[in-house]
Amino acid sequence: MNNNLLQGKKGIVFGALNSDSIAWKVAEQCHAQGAQLVLTNAPMAMRMGEINALAEKTGALVIGADATSLEELQNLIQGAMDHFGGKIDFILHSIGMSVNVRKNRPYTDLNYDFLTKGWDVSAVSFHKVLQTAYQMDALSQWGSVLALSYMAAQRTFPDYNDMAENKAYLESVARSFGYHYGISKQVRVNTISQSPTPTTAGSGVKGFNAFLSFADKMSPLGNATAEDCANLCVVMFSDMTRRVTMQNLYNDGGFSNTGVSQEVLDAYMKGAE
Ligand SMILES: NC(=O)c1ccc[n+]([C@@H]2O[C@H](COP(=O)([O-])OP(=O)(O)OC[C@H]3O[C@@H](n4cnc5c(N)ncnc54)[C@H](O)[C@@H]3O)[C@@H](O)[C@H]2O)c1
Repeated sequence: MNNNLLQGKKGIVFGALNSDSIAWKVAEQCHAQGAQLVLTNAPMAMRMGEINALAEKTGALVIGADATSLEELQNLIQGAMDHFGGKIDFILHSIGMSVNVRKNRPYTDLNYDFLTKGWDVSAVSFHKVLQTAYQMDALSQWGSVLALSYMAAQRTFPDYNDMAENKAYLESVARSFGYHYGISKQVRVNTISQSPTPTTAGSGVKGFNAFLSFADKMSPLGNATAEDCANLCVVMFSDMTRRVTMQNLYNDGGFSNTGVSQEVLDAYMKGAE
């Protein structure tokens, strides 16, 4: 479906590692809706990933940046403005990584150096992106910034580990920065809380496949896919949602408001018999 919702808009998409990445689908859909793009990822991930294929497909410029480095973020944002010949209309922050999860450290035995690194990459980097754009006055009036979150920010899931705190922090940054950016530049800042999605980052969570299936059975509309997320991002970047800000929007098929579904109860009863 192409409605040219982003015709004339220019945006930066962080986090497209490979074709499974949510950011990959967002970039494809933004391009299909008429946007011009700059794609970015950590230089290390760009070496491993396939970002150049996406850049070719979407006519985008690629500029590497470690999202924890203020210097690299400034370089990215300046490079994007030079490329676009003006300000930026939207940014997607699609970045997450827990060193404790990667190294199989249980939540009750966290390594705090790992925790600090994961927090910087997954959560503080969102503040760094916003602050850099703010100080460089890089975003257009009615611009839109999104980050991707997960419901573990509100409710406990046994194996989501310290990413739960990172997501809670991320969502709080959207509210706090959304206030300041709204007042001074009429820029929106929101998070999208996405269903479990089979990607490199998602699959790193222990027991991911069982969890994916459980979430699907619990959601009246089923799990939201990466493509569903991309469609919501397009709407949030478009002029149709100008006064939606400081929100955490659930794109989860109804999971977050479901106590239990009949399907899950039936499966539980079968196991209990
Ligand atoms: N997959 C899921 O189940 C799920 C559910 C809800 C939310 N999310 C969130 O969606 C976002 C995207 O994840 P994904 O599932 O598409 O996985 P992914 O692994 O494809 O994307 C994660 C990206 O973060 C990038 N990254 C890591 N460190 C970085 C750094 N220092 N600087 C710049 N980029 C860096 C990686 O290179 C990668 O491109 C994350 O915030 C994730 O927590 C994912």
